[in-house]
Amino acid sequence: MSTLDWWRTGTIYQVYIRSFADGNGDGTGDINGLRSKLPYLADLGIDGIWINPWYPSPLLDGGYDVADYRDIHPSFGTLEDADAMIEEAHELGIRILVDLVPNHCSWDHVWFKAALQAAPGSPERARFHFTEGSVADDGTVGPPNNWKSVFGGPAWTQVDDGQWYLHLFDPSQPDLDWTHPEVREEFRSILRFWLDRGADGFRVDVAHGLAKDMDFPDLSDHVQILSSAKQPNHAHWDRDELHEIVREWRAVLDEYDGRMMVAEAWVSEESLPKYLRPDEYHQSFSFDLLMAAWNADAYRSTITSVYEPAKALGAASTWVLSNHDVMRHTTRFGLPADESWRTWPVTGPADALDTELGERRARVAALITLGLPGASYLYQGEELGLPEVWELPWDVLDDPVARRSEGTQKGRDGCRVPIPWTAAGESFGFGGPAWMPQPERFAAYATDQQIGVDGSFHSLYKDALRIRREHFVDDAELTWIDAGDGVLAYSRASGVRCVANMGAEPVPMPAGEILLTSMPGLTDELPSDTAVWLRPT
Ligand code: GLC
Repeated sequence: MSTLDWWRTGTIYQVYIRSFADGNGDGTGDINGLRSKLPYLADLGIDGIWINPWYPSPLLDGGYDVADYRDIHPSFGTLEDADAMIEEAHELGIRILVDLVPNHCSWDHVWFKAALQAAPGSPERARFHFTEGSVADDGTVGPPNNWKSVFGGPAWTQVDDGQWYLHLFDPSQPDLDWTHPEVREEFRSILRFWLDRGADGFRVDVAHGLAKDMDFPDLSDHVQILSSAKQPNHAHWDRDELHEIVREWRAVLDEYDGRMMVAEAWVSEESLPKYLRPDEYHQSFSFDLLMAAWNADAYRSTITSVYEPAKALGAASTWVLSNHDVMRHTTRFGLPADESWRTWPVTGPADALDTELGERRARVAALITLGLPGASYLYQGEELGLPEVWELPWDVLDDPVARRSEGTQKGRDGCRVPIPWTAAGESFGFGGPAWMPQPERFAAYATDQQIGVDGSFHSLYKDALRIRREHFVDDAELTWIDAGDGVLAYSRASGVRCVANMGAEPVPMPAGEILLTSMPGLTDELPSDTAVWLRPT
């Protein structure tokens, strides 16, 4: 394979392995299921796949609680299956990114089990953040400080001998102490393990974590997951010390040809460039569009704030509309502007959701983002217009966010429901009885209802990816066009323009040859919430 920087302009498809395709009929997605769908992904026209954690794990946070970084969860397959999958993907020209989870491991990891067996002050405990509790004036003992877990509740759990350990996420996810040389060496070795097996790179989980203020001061303010860690000199997010670790990893990747790593860093615009320095990450997700209001001005300023700093550094921008941590955007776009997608599944009202509007806007957002310079990350099912399953009953929810939210948030399971492949058949062709229930309405979104069907979401994505390869990948230039109120318009060096009417009123169809429209049948005008790609005539 060529070692060109494929990831700068690539489309990377995120596979939530548990819910993508089930190869052995046990109701859980697996590597062999993914293998069987590689031709589908190649036909869609993607360049790479990022696979959510597939390691042995008690799955108390969907696999982000890793018990062994050098093996595969038996429900997902074996190392041999992974090797075969990587080889088959490469034959189809598809790169594979593995999810690296360095901030924490699982409480089932051999290191943490040893730490629990060992005494306070032992070398086994030194790989984690074990410390004494704080003692109040009245003598009661509490957690060492006031840090909170991202999933709710305190970030500390007490063990039998009285010490406490730090977990910024679930108690089943003890944070590793990255000042410890063994932790550093172990992860360099884990990187090599997967690079040697042919992985093309890594998506790095909680890249803004890792380093902690080792004095463990109280925090005055708390930062929620997916809302950006925006305080300077925060005690456990986005600390300067973490960059030294990143540089060590980069040095390992640079021993190999053409490998890359992308950071999941929830940091401010001012901080992000540090992660993109030439000896650090190749790219970082930008989640700003997930938070942008639906209007042309907000989109333009958000896109500019992502594009310009990346360009200045010679890095590639990234565009994300959905992932396994947020409400699927077809549903998000169908909610009133002032509604919080985090809490709406609990609070309702259900009729606040306008499904048709959400789907229209999702099509527009696809043309806006897939036409931009940089990498686009697609979340499985996005190419089908799959909705959030926000109505999942509490008793099937699996996400620690739901468990720990005290009834205020249903968490992230609604975007992790198994993919419908066929309208008929058990679990809509996913495999055996799906581990998370799928709603009846999934039948209409199944791939066999959409592939080759004019006007379907799948056809829109497939056409968009083909045109993107033809017209958009040779340059990184983006030029804004003033197209009037409510209209977002830009052109690329090829001369191809994207014009999106995000306003309430229709506008005349701009001049040019229509390459693709967000909805079928658009010729003379662009109605509200439609978009077009045009080539100069
Ligand atoms: C990241 C993952 C999320 C996980 C968390 C803890 O934000 O995307 O799914 O729960 O890290 O590992």
